[in-house]
Amino acid sequence: MPLVNLFGSKWRLVLSTFLICVIIFELVYCQKDAQEQRTTPGRKAKTSKPKPGKSTNKGPRAVPAKTKIKATPAAPTQAFLSQVLNRGKFKKVGETISVQTGDSLELRCRGKPVQWSVPPYLEEDDDGRLTIVQHERYGLLTLVNTTGADTGEYTCYPMYCEDTDCRKEYDKAVKVFVFFPDPQELFVPSSDYYEVIQLRTNWPTVLPCQVTSPEAKVTLHREFPPVEVAVDGTDISFNVKKGFTIHRPRPYHAGALYCVASLGNLRQSSTKYMLIYVNYPMAPPAPAIQASSSSVAVGENLRVSCSVVGEQNVAVEFTWEYPGQQIGRPLYTQESISPVAGGAARQQSQSVLLVDEVRDVDQGTYTCTAQNLQGATSVSTSIKVVPKAKAKKP
Ligand SMILES: *[C@@H]1O[C@H](CO)[C@@H](O)[C@H](O)[C@H]1NC(C)=O
Repeated sequence: MPLVNLFGSKWRLVLSTFLICVIIFELVYCQKDAQEQRTTPGRKAKTSKPKPGKSTNKGPRAVPAKTKIKATPAAPTQAFLSQVLNRGKFKKVGETISVQTGDSLELRCRGKPVQWSVPPYLEEDDDGRLTIVQHERYGLLTLVNTTGADTGEYTCYPMYCEDTDCRKEYDKAVKVFVFFPDPQELFVPSSDYYEVIQLRTNWPTVLPCQVTSPEAKVTLHREFPPVEVAVDGTDISFNVKKGFTIHRPRPYHAGALYCVASLGNLRQSSTKYMLIYVNYPMAPPAPAIQASSSSVAVGENLRVSCSVVGEQNVAVEFTWEYPGQQIGRPLYTQESISPVAGGAARQQSQSVLLVDEVRDVDQGTYTCTAQNLQGATSVSTSIKVVPKAKAKKP
């Protein structure tokens, strides 16, 4: 067989294998597409892109009123929020309301003046759909050409003013969660295809898959192995205004998860959440410091130990401050980790500072600082240096 032909058949093999792969890939993914349309990354209805880095901020942001606020030294009044329906009709709002996408949202909040906070994306993406006006006795928020992406919390803060000095009265804030049920988008679109979330030991973690309709049925799924995650309301719970919360993260919760929402014939998947488990301490370390002796004679050796008992696999970092530091006295430390006898899932981390042949300059305060992901704590001890017990004279 000529060499060219040999190559030709090899290439045909490679090519056909490749094609088969493509076909299998397409089959798998097309089927998946038919079952669940993945939410497209990026806010659909928007013209300008959400700024990277900012898009993950979920907290509400303050929006300054566009009109100049005349400060009045007024006694704070109880704010209340009403939805302006058509032609002078008002409706006091409850915890949540639903507004048809495309319709306008008009919220009126009693108070002079008031400040508003809106879902972060709305504030970042100022495309002129949101207007805030302060009238004499109330503030008015208007959002036009609404989409599912506008779903979120809208808050009115009454302001307490003395002369020109105004501050928000957080305790008098009134908020409403507004859903904009979108017939095409069951999830509030995310600008990221996936989101990395840290699972910290014993710290509640939220998977913020936010639905645009309170009627959507939402389930939680693991990508590999592909299973639905049980939501029992205790370990993992669902809140239609927040998403899923893992209350006490454990290492087995880690992995790629996503939410699936269904409403009528529509079934969609959320952004993927990559959950990474981090051994996270409950509190800053509580170190204990101990010197071999509080009074050492010149020429003797000194050991100062600093130890922390804490959760297993939680790193503790030690730093030392000591009298000989300024003059560059070369001291050295030994660090170790050992399990605590009888204590389940606890360990002792220790740093020992060794001072060989103590000199006068070594007298003073020795400070150990122990740090973990939650914070740092310092402890000190004083060491006295005394003359040699038996002075040997040549
Ligand atoms: C709202 O939508 C209408 C119709 O598409 C358009 O003419 C108008 O400019 C939009 N308004 C704003 C503020 O985007």
